[in-house]
Amino acid sequence: MEYFQDDELQAKSYDRTLMARILSYAKPYKGWLVLSVALLLLVSLFQLAPPYLVKIAIDRYISPESELDTAARYAGLAKVVGLFFAVLVVAFLASYFQIYVMAQVGQRIMFDLRMQIFRHLQSKEIAYFDRNPVGRLMTRLTSDVEVLNETFTSGVVAIFLDVFTLAGIMIVLCYLSFKLAMITFVVLPALFVAAMIFRAKVRVSYRNVRKRVAAINAFLQENITGMNVVQVFNREGAQFTKFSRRNKRLYQAHIDTIMAYAVFYPVIEILSSVAIALILWYGGGGVMKGVLTFGSLVAFIQYAQRFYRPIMDLSEKYNVLQSAMASSERIFALLDSEPAIKDSVAPQAIPDSPAEVTFDRVSFSYNPDEPVLRDITFTVRPGEKVAIVGFTGAGKTTIINLLSRLYDANEGRILIGDTDIREYRQRDLHRYIATVLQDVFLFSGDIAYNIHLGDASIDEDRVREVSRYINAEKFIEKLPAGYAEPVGERGRTLSVGERQLLSFARALVYEPKILVLDEATSSVDTDTEFLVQDALKKFMAGRTSIVIAHRLSTIRHVDRIIVLHKGRIAEEGPHGELLERGGLYSNLYELQYRDQEKKIY
Ligand SMILES: Nc1ncnc2c1ncn2[C@@H]1O[C@H](COP(=O)(O)OP(=O)(O)OP(=O)(O)O)[C@@H](O)[C@H]1O
Ligand SMILES: [Mg+2]
Repeated sequence: MEYFQDDELQAKSYDRTLMARILSYAKPYKGWLVLSVALLLLVSLFQLAPPYLVKIAIDRYISPESELDTAARYAGLAKVVGLFFAVLVVAFLASYFQIYVMAQVGQRIMFDLRMQIFRHLQSKEIAYFDRNPVGRLMTRLTSDVEVLNETFTSGVVAIFLDVFTLAGIMIVLCYLSFKLAMITFVVLPALFVAAMIFRAKVRVSYRNVRKRVAAINAFLQENITGMNVVQVFNREGAQFTKFSRRNKRLYQAHIDTIMAYAVFYPVIEILSSVAIALILWYGGGGVMKGVLTFGSLVAFIQYAQRFYRPIMDLSEKYNVLQSAMASSERIFALLDSEPAIKDSVAPQAIPDSPAEVTFDRVSFSYNPDEPVLRDITFTVRPGEKVAIVGFTGAGKTTIINLLSRLYDANEGRILIGDTDIREYRQRDLHRYIATVLQDVFLFSGDIAYNIHLGDASIDEDRVREVSRYINAEKFIEKLPAGYAEPVGERGRTLSVGERQLLSFARALVYEPKILVLDEATSSVDTDTEFLVQDALKKFMAGRTSIVIAHRLSTIRHVDRIIVLHKGRIAEEGPHGELLERGGLYSNLYELQYRDQEKKIY
């Protein structure tokens, strides 16, 4: 639970600058908004009319004291009834268009906002995603945006309607009978106190609901993704108990919310009944004394009944506004965080032929005070094939993370040619260097899509050509739909080896100048291993390659080996030379690669 605490920024009840910023999203739709408010005015005006029409009907035409003859009374009554219907129809139409216009505005604002957030997320540095769990970022794009939409559709605009209606009713009541109006307003203070208590209660329980829903979502996400681990280790019972605890907490939060309503609504009912009783008593007396017409009394009671609706609504709207404030605060905090890795203002053109790659005294840490790389210096000449080896956690993957600028080095420089990689556009850099990551990530789409990734400049023939070259075509053609075979989420349905071959094809299809490969640690069966190794050889042929090697056969194909130990370069040289030296590499070789030699060859 603590995990989600910082999601709940302590939003002030009303923050003007925040509100101004929320409203700024409506600027492009200003015309629509004005139209919507105009329609609202119309709606609330027309909602005021019916009780008054009732009063006219009673006082002028129905009342036994009417001075008109029967025919005139019928004619008058018919007119009022006609007007009554006309008012209803106009109010209906106005209300329809108002809701339509407002829905349009709200949905468009959400659309814009989602685009903006997504674009912003794409520009964020990878370190940001290390710090922010998926679930939290998803919430920004979905429910937070949704809540913000409510600010417009049922918040700001509807509050207008309520305020108009309330003011309108008060004016009409005073006009009908000032004294009786004052008596009606007697219950208002009690009403406001009730509304305030309700608001405070509901605010807390709404917040609890949100927090607990978030906790359940995070729990679910983890458990569904890791279902195989749960089942294999017989954790079903334990996870079920954990889930049931979270589920109970959510249940309780919902119940608390509902109970707050269950008290509030009846209290309002009682207060409004008290008011009506007062009106009946004093108003009835007024009619008997002849200071109030019968029709006015009826109209008065009808208005009084409508009076409480907007007051109830307003206390609810207040909560909507509150959560909208909190949501927008979170969204804006996300949007305002500048990407830490940005293109230089005057980017250099990237060389169009393979150039030297140089690490020049590079140091790096993911977290302050936990250095991962220290003083790394090496050069890879054009066309050279270099392997990086080392124990797990030595910092191998980190080196290629820095090279493709997923993170920026803390100290030192990384050069391509003579230029710091920070001087190139990230786009150019990523086209220049093809990186095959340790964990292959596949998108939900078909096989072909996972190779070209939607790049229109890569046609089907090219995809096939590369797949054939890289030994992937054989398994692809065995699939029922071949290249059009859909890949399940995260490629669950493909084997590890198949996924690796796909990732090779994906990298090669771009004809990169430099190839960076983080060999998958997971081993594959001997047949596939052979295919993968053959593919690798073809892959590296004639290309500058930096390979993080976990396999002996990969090491065999390289010119030079860099041995990384605890973030420093321990040894460097060709395979034979390093073995002879009898240092760290020969150790590693004994431990790690000797077995493979027996296994595969
Ligand atoms: N995103 C991250 N945030 C914080 N620490 C990290 C992050 N990624 C890696 N580390 C830490 O940095 C160190 C080096 O990790 P790295 O992934 O570079 O190791 P590696 O040499 O590639 O290991 P392996 O052979 O297992 O792939 C490890 O101690 C790891 O825990
Ligand atoms: Mg690694």
